[in-house]
Amino acid sequence: MKALILSGGRGTRLRPLTYTGAKQLVPVANKPILWYGIERLVAAGITDIGIIISPETGEEIRQKTGDGDQFGAKITYILQDEPAGLAHAVKVARPFLQDDPFVMYLGDNVIQADLSQFLEPFKEKHFDSCILLRRVENPSAFGVATVDESGRVLQLVEKPKNPPSNLALVGIYFFGPIIHEAIAAIKPSARGELEITDAIQQLIDTDKLVDSRLLEGWWLDTGKKDDLLEANRVILDTTLGKENLGILDGSSQVIGRVEIGAGSTLKNSTIRGPVVIGENCQLENCYIGPYTSIADGARLVDVDLDHSVILRGAVIDGIHQRIVDSVVGQRAKLTATPQRPKALRFMIGDDSQIELA
Ligand code: TTP
Repeated sequence: MKALILSGGRGTRLRPLTYTGAKQLVPVANKPILWYGIERLVAAGITDIGIIISPETGEEIRQKTGDGDQFGAKITYILQDEPAGLAHAVKVARPFLQDDPFVMYLGDNVIQADLSQFLEPFKEKHFDSCILLRRVENPSAFGVATVDESGRVLQLVEKPKNPPSNLALVGIYFFGPIIHEAIAAIKPSARGELEITDAIQQLIDTDKLVDSRLLEGWWLDTGKKDDLLEANRVILDTTLGKENLGILDGSSQVIGRVEIGAGSTLKNSTIRGPVVIGENCQLENCYIGPYTSIADGARLVDVDLDHSVILRGAVIDGIHQRIVDSVVGQRAKLTATPQRPKALRFMIGDDSQIELA
């Protein structure tokens, strides 16, 4: 059994961050989103992993993620020249996949569930495909499945105006080698992409066995800012421990579950968890509230911040208003002269500079 993680794509919904970096490397609780997927696959015993990368962001992904040693996996990088669809990515990966069964995993998705529970029935019952489904309130925004009482998939429709069910496709799929025949038989969709839903529908139309399972626990698609903040909240809530390797002065305090990395210094600051602060950060006169992740090397002075993700090396200095629900890119600089609007909301790309004068 192999795995194919899709980590190419355009990432338009996460601009401006994705102008300069891969969305799959944006950190959630200070760890790249992509790495959660790799860890989930390895935990299910799948260690032969191919990662689809794009020409724009592939090198950064390859450099940070490496050959898989740190995860106990063997990673093969596969270049997809253009983001021509999920089924196109499978086509490009054919030399890696050969005729092995595989799990396809969207690199911007994070799940709580253990994948091995789906792997066993897929292997034992010789399904041609198994898709993971989830009941959602807004099925029109997703691929939607109709299934019979045994879970067999009868039909898939992409973002339907009148959804036939509330069962949305989660970005994790199990395939046997027959999927390559199905992909060869489909044409690009109206948006010009080779759609994996069309390929699965092709399997259904040719009487292949497409099973489905309901995914329990949280599932987070981090493609947009608010989804990213939600993923950060859920992961901090469920996985964060308590460890302080930083240096706090006498007027600083840490309340609740907070992790602080080595070399970080806190002066006259209060941290109310769950919060993670990376290594070599400097915080002075700050209040950092729940559900905030601050990456390595960030510097925050006179900041009141919560429910936010601050990337590596960002500087926030002298913003006297509360900052909430914000994502601040790597090395971005946010500085101000004192004044007091009510609240500020930001989505700030790498290398930006903002001055509230
Ligand atoms: P999407 O989020 O559907 O697409 P995208 O990354 O282009 O984002 P946006 O809609 O904001 O422009 O893709 C899901 C995952 O699959 C994501 O990790 C990117 C990856 N992907 C590929 O690797 N190749 C592709 O051709 C496409 C369409 C997506």
